[in-house]
Amino acid sequence: EQMKNFSVKMELVDGVPLPDSTWEMWHQFWNFQAREDDILIATFPKAGTTWMQEIVDLIMLQGDVEKSMRAPCFVKVPFLDLNVKPLPSGVEAANVMPSPRLLKTHMPIKLLPPSFWEKDVKVVYVARNAKDCMVSYYYFQRMNKGLPDPGTWDEYFSTFLAGDVAWGSWFDHVIGWWNARDKHRILYMFYEDMVEDPEREIRKVIKFLGKDVSEEVLQTILHHTSFEVMKNNPMANYSVLPSVVMDQSISKFMRKGKVGDWKNHFSVSQNIAFDKEYKEKMEGSGLTFREEL
Ligand code: A3P
Repeated sequence: EQMKNFSVKMELVDGVPLPDSTWEMWHQFWNFQAREDDILIATFPKAGTTWMQEIVDLIMLQGDVEKSMRAPCFVKVPFLDLNVKPLPSGVEAANVMPSPRLLKTHMPIKLLPPSFWEKDVKVVYVARNAKDCMVSYYYFQRMNKGLPDPGTWDEYFSTFLAGDVAWGSWFDHVIGWWNARDKHRILYMFYEDMVEDPEREIRKVIKFLGKDVSEEVLQTILHHTSFEVMKNNPMANYSVLPSVVMDQSISKFMRKGKVGDWKNHFSVSQNIAFDKEYKEKMEGSGLTFREEL
């Protein structure tokens, strides 16, 4: 109850709303020193970050499931944008981590620390269709006490569409990273493709990372990163966090893992309004999403 009133403030950085704790360490964040052999997972929130983390970690470990469960996903993969006292910030956690490091960020590309480009770091970007992202983020903001209460679904619909959520506009995010994909070492992945054919998509990641993985190891990774297995893996499902941080009685972190759940939330008129704005914003981007499989 007490945490329900816990107010989370946002601060604008170059027009992008970020948690005020992130803004407070901006200098530290912006000066983060990437290393050549880092691998960065970049996403708009709720696009499948944790899923990709588990996949890449297991690829780097050649399918060693026991080692992949050495620590909760948010410990083994520092979330650079995070700064929750009294814990070390994401940057501080990454700084003391031996290479090769797997790192996570939700930053739009313009707010990525420059050293990632200087070091030509490989980035795996995961994009998910906006409607499902919106639904997933709505439930996440209800249960995650480190983010603002989303209000009602109808309220949140407008908030999200206006880009007034943490890490900003979904449109700017997916388009910004899309436009950079040929200038840097970026693998641009889609959540919908991963749901459709995870084996095919995991192969893409393996190839991008330049790894050699046997058929047997591939099958192990496929199994261990399935929705059902991750849902029951305490190191992947965030259940080790206390309910004052994430209240999973409100909504599970591993919630549904489906494409098209937006159909259960969007009203007919919301869908029309959304599609209209979507068309305007995405026009000419060359970027297309599937909202159903
Ligand atoms: P839903 O809320 O739609 O279920 P992130 O890790 O970026 O916060 O994304 C979380 C979303 O990814 C949640 O979506 C979660 O269920 C989904 N997800 C996580 N692991 C998954 C998996 N192995 N397969 C499919 N979806 C997965």
